[in-house]
Amino acid sequence: MPRMTEASDWSRAADPARRVGHAVEFHAEIGSTNDRAREALGEPGGEGLAIVADLQTAGRGRRGRTWISPPGVNLLCSVAVRPRIAPELTGLLGIAAALAVRDACDAFVPAAGLAIRWPNDVIAADGRKVAGVLVETALEGGQLAEAVIGMGINVNADASALPAEVAATATSLRALGGVTVDRVSLLGRVLSAVDAELRALEDGEAPLRRLRASSWLDGREVTVDTGSGTITGCVAGIGDDGSLLLDAAMGRLAISVGEVVRVNEADATHRAMAAVAE
Ligand code: BTN
Repeated sequence: MPRMTEASDWSRAADPARRVGHAVEFHAEIGSTNDRAREALGEPGGEGLAIVADLQTAGRGRRGRTWISPPGVNLLCSVAVRPRIAPELTGLLGIAAALAVRDACDAFVPAAGLAIRWPNDVIAADGRKVAGVLVETALEGGQLAEAVIGMGINVNADASALPAEVAATATSLRALGGVTVDRVSLLGRVLSAVDAELRALEDGEAPLRRLRASSWLDGREVTVDTGSGTITGCVAGIGDDGSLLLDAAMGRLAISVGEVVRVNEADATHRAMAAVAE
């Protein structure tokens, strides 16, 4: 059984020299860490303050989903920032945060082959989800005024403790690596990586090369819900703006906003067999 993480322990993940994660605010229970991070942005020192909770009563995921996580075992964290980037780079901000989470988790389970499933899920090599990122933004005068980056990472949850509706499609770092992961150390790595990714994006360095190198969907046949309908096609790669390139019946499409709702597993099996045959 993992040792209880005390409220005071979390401050070990902070670094006053950083913009993201200069301090950590811990809540035993909260509605959503994203809401508290947004509120904190209006307070002195609120930019980059990491909000962490053991339990969320109104945790949310992308596209209106609920984010359910058993208490005290996973990492639920949000930071709000005023990004100095053009609004059209918001998609890349989510991707950069997902890469930061992937890299931080990878340090604890290097053999798990963690990858990115567009747009910003972190998954194990078999496609089961380890972490999700939710970026909520506000525009002012056409400029990106604020972005709340919420990260939910399945750290030490037992497979049996995961919500029934995601048990087949989710896993945790502990399940993958076989050892309990120190959540405070993981948070320190996550915050440091998000800080570096944000700075790079603001300096005009999009993380495209690393996204392309760790993109799990390439070559797979998928169905994407774009919000105005679904499209099925074969993933051809990632565009320069972070969009998903899809070869569909009507030709090559660049999808900038959407969610992959189905991966054709028969196709994945075919790919694996083809790889063995090569
Ligand atoms: C997704 O995969 O749909 C995104 C999930 C994001 C969940 C995290 S948990 C911390 C933060 N607070 C929330 O309410 N959501 C994010």
